Amino acid sequence: MKYLKFSNGDQMPALGLGTWKSAPGEVYKAVIKAIELGYRHFDCAYIYGNEKEIGQAFADAFAAGEVKREDLWITSKLWNNKHREEQVKPAIIHTLDDLKLDYLDLYLIHWPVVVADSTDFPSNKDELISLTVTPLEETWAGMIDVQKSGLSKHIGVSNFNPSHLNALIHGTGVSPEMNQVEMHPYLQQKKLKAYCDEENILMTAYSPLGSGDRPSNRKKDNEPSLLENPVIKTIAEEKSCSTAQVILAWEVNRGTAVIPKSVNEKRLAENLAAAEIDLSAEQMQAIANIDLDYRFIDGSFWCLPGSDYTQEELWG
Ligand code: A2P
Repeated sequence: MKYLKFSNGDQMPALGLGTWKSAPGEVYKAVIKAIELGYRHFDCAYIYGNEKEIGQAFADAFAAGEVKREDLWITSKLWNNKHREEQVKPAIIHTLDDLKLDYLDLYLIHWPVVVADSTDFPSNKDELISLTVTPLEETWAGMIDVQKSGLSKHIGVSNFNPSHLNALIHGTGVSPEMNQVEMHPYLQQKKLKAYCDEENILMTAYSPLGSGDRPSNRKKDNEPSLLENPVIKTIAEEKSCSTAQVILAWEVNRGTAVIPKSVNEKRLAENLAAAEIDLSAEQMQAIANIDLDYRFIDGSFWCLPGSDYTQEELWG
């Protein structure tokens, strides 16, 4: 397994288990199986609605002596309706209760978007709060406090563009340690990655396989298929592995973390094994050439008419 190294020397396994879309009822089994297979990095979030089941799986695995808490890297995320500074600590405590943990390894601001307290997802512009009312620096101050209090060892963000990141860095003097974004061969994030590399911000790739199990209202017609891409297929034949493994190996070989979701035993094993596959410089270059700058998760659900949020502002 490759690791991403934080500035204090802590190491995060480069390949972890994603849990978005893993339904309560199936995620318990998936986490138990993943630990048995050797997964040591788990990516969670309040909004996925399954942290209680995941917490039960962790608790049972610890009690059975399968693994120790300190051997796991566990990430979770602050939801958009908890961005005021005083809301951040109660939010992580809620997540820790559900996950049955004393601390997280990494806590992220899930989106640079603020939603009214009364809802998880806005249905009209009045349920979206402008960043001029609740600035990201205010949320970040709450995150810094969470790290100081030991509730999370590390703090970072998700879905942030360079101007959001700049606001935090220049507004507070404390740089996020991680930016988790959608990233795969069709959305290689070359500019954002160059910025994050320059600023010493680590990156994690979500939806690395294109999240084909997204709800239908989050899908467009004629989406390109990552798993069927001919360049990736050719490399899969050369390496005698699956196309999913080529994609995951590409992410790891690029120096980012990657969090494929699966609840299927065979695919859980296949995905973990991908972290051990090395690609040649030619194979890495062939994949570099197929970038489409295509987002499966385009954030349009935040960009409601009349609100401050637009896709241009969101992605920079
Ligand atoms: P399943 O959970 O049944 O394995 P993403 O990580 O981009 O969100 O993608 C998750 C989707 O990809 C899920 O539908 C998941 O299904 C599927 N998936 C996970 N691993 C693989 C794999 N190795 N090959 C093909 N599909 C996979």
